[in-house]
Amino acid sequence: MIPNQWYIVLSSNQVKKQPVGVTRMGEKLVFWRDGDGALSCIKDRCVHRGVQLSKGRVVSSGHLQCPFHGFEYNATGRVQKIPANGQGAPVPERFRVHSYPTHEEHGFIWIWWGEDAPQDLKPPSFFKDIHDEFVYGQSIDPWDAHYSRVIENQLDVVHLPFVHHNTIGRGCRTLVEGPGIEWVNDNQFNVYVYNKKDDGSQPRTPEQVPIPNPDKPFKLEFIFPNLWQNHISEDVRVVGAFVPTDDEHTLLYLRFYQRFLTLPILSGWVAQLAMPFNLRVAHQDRRLVVTQEPKPSALKMDEQLIRGDRPIVEYRRRRQQLLEANSESGRGAVVQ
Ligand code: FES
Ligand SMILES: [Fe+2]
Repeated sequence: MIPNQWYIVLSSNQVKKQPVGVTRMGEKLVFWRDGDGALSCIKDRCVHRGVQLSKGRVVSSGHLQCPFHGFEYNATGRVQKIPANGQGAPVPERFRVHSYPTHEEHGFIWIWWGEDAPQDLKPPSFFKDIHDEFVYGQSIDPWDAHYSRVIENQLDVVHLPFVHHNTIGRGCRTLVEGPGIEWVNDNQFNVYVYNKKDDGSQPRTPEQVPIPNPDKPFKLEFIFPNLWQNHISEDVRVVGAFVPTDDEHTLLYLRFYQRFLTLPILSGWVAQLAMPFNLRVAHQDRRLVVTQEPKPSALKMDEQLIRGDRPIVEYRRRRQQLLEANSESGRGAVVQ
């Protein structure tokens, strides 16, 4: 994983009144809300004798109470109260666990994962073209794969007529022109797809295709480290967040967004109705992606790529840069 990034790790509706314990990026974390609904995230391991804090409860002060001996934690991970020592007894500084900055928007929860966040930490980015009038349905789909492989699969335009020959890849468009790549900023890029039937012509290169595509609004969008959008039309989108649980497991948070139906009940219903089809498409991919070896991808690895793999190369290149930048500055170890 790339350290020092905002990662989407949950959707908002997964954290209600009770504390929630999850594994993300290989670490056990606990999330809870105080009485005002404000969200906190700290390591899910009591500093006293190591039990999971997520088995505890939120007390009236909004602090998280360990179920074993009642230590109470605030949002910064500091113990505020040790009941056995008596009211008002000072709590030494060392009674603390690591806390993670959180951000909640668009029904997603992000954490800043890595070393301590900088003072001027900016909020994570989301797609500027998804506004409040969109309604979405969501499924959470487990994949036994490293999250980099799941991401690359969603940037892979070459697989469409093979893996999805009876769903989104109908039409036998096996010839891959482009694909066109457009970097929006350092951490976001778009992919324009120009697949067509093989008519015997030489496919145009990524440099030769127009950007954006003048014939259709369709494009793929990716924001580092783990957010993707299939921009099907102005009114219909599929969004994926690739949530790493550990180095070999990923949760795909898959959403179908629409705004062509505006009647509140009907629109939510239609968004949810679209999920079985979207999952069917995802499962066509999943049965293959889980077999990829080695599990994580890398910029330099034993694979023979082709021109149509350009989006995957762009992803790998930037990912490598971010990994190296973090290791050079000494801000966290490069794992994978
Ligand atoms: S283990 Fe948490 S208070 Fe003792
Ligand atoms: Fe696919």
